[in-house]
Amino acid sequence: MGWPRIAFRASLFLAMVAICIARKVPACFVFGDSLVDSGNNNYLVSLAKANYNPNGIDFGGPTGRFTNGRTVADILDEELGFEGYTPPYLAPTTVWPVIQEGVNYGSGASGILKSTGTMFGGRIYFGAQIDNFAGTRQEIISHIGEPAALELLGQSLFSVTIGSNDLINNYLLPVVSVVEQVLVSPEVFIDSMISSYMLQLTCCLQRLYDMGARKILVVNMGPIGCIPFERDTDSASGNSCADRPNQMARMFNVRLEDLVSQLRSTLQGSIIVYADVYRTVVDVIENYASYGFDNANSSCCSITGNHGGLLPCGPPSVVCSDRSKYIFWDSYHPSDAANSVIAKRLMDGGPDDIRPMNIRQLADL
Ligand SMILES: *[C@@H]1O[C@H](CO)[C@@H](O)[C@H](O)[C@H]1NC(C)=O
Repeated sequence: MGWPRIAFRASLFLAMVAICIARKVPACFVFGDSLVDSGNNNYLVSLAKANYNPNGIDFGGPTGRFTNGRTVADILDEELGFEGYTPPYLAPTTVWPVIQEGVNYGSGASGILKSTGTMFGGRIYFGAQIDNFAGTRQEIISHIGEPAALELLGQSLFSVTIGSNDLINNYLLPVVSVVEQVLVSPEVFIDSMISSYMLQLTCCLQRLYDMGARKILVVNMGPIGCIPFERDTDSASGNSCADRPNQMARMFNVRLEDLVSQLRSTLQGSIIVYADVYRTVVDVIENYASYGFDNANSSCCSITGNHGGLLPCGPPSVVCSDRSKYIFWDSYHPSDAANSVIAKRLMDGGPDDIRPMNIRQLADL
């Protein structure tokens, strides 16, 4: 009589132990641009691709990631206890049961605005990334049913890293800008872009929420004036970060944080976290030596330009001798080493970096 009971208690105990050591976040759904693309653009006819050497040199080879190693999304996967990295939506292997641990919808050259990045050809803009998620969600429901799917999605981490291309590959492009900047002032452009972003983001986040998302990370725009591309193309930059793009990023971020606060109160039961990556990256650039870097202004993988910022990283490029000492891998993107610093701050940072809570706290809820 006593044995089944002991056995039951023992198995209950083991089940509880298993729950305690299980991942707090069952899945990650990643939305964004080339900062997080883990290979989607490999499947598109696009000029914005990174599936060739020397990209991925510290990843075991090119994967489509626009960096030498891991993206911030990859490092968050590690920190959250996942065994692998969130796979790209377009990979043929990203099907059930893999998708129950999350999917990456990120696409290089994409933006908030549908038109952003046109000159690169194929890319998946933010709204279409949400459409793709709707498909994934249906597939999950078809396997485990709606209640279990909603439980899974409610605990999952949804991250949104998008917006830089709407500035860099649009308004700030040297070719476009000569004409457009005469006609449209930065304030007017930013205003219309943000108004459009507000509509898009409100709608997209509302859609994610309606589909079951509750834990949402919104990453703000980094100091785009500090990337080697802007340092080399903005004639006013000299040897420092280009002021104008940074100013625009800050204007954008102020409005973004307002929007996030609003959505936080309208979407009942959601926890929308705002990450001030702008501040984190400026801190790393200004105090680079204390973070173990010795280069804060140039591309590690470079062909030409004072800061190696004029051409994309590719087979003809020269790679710096110590990649862990460079903040920037190429003209636009941080190195694996810089991504590590950013990811750690997202995980464990204080309210200056991420608010109202960090990812570790968000995961624990
Ligand atoms: C990059 O930064 C270093 C260290 O501050 C500085 O000596 C160098 O002149 C800068 N290079 C360029 C091209 O701006």
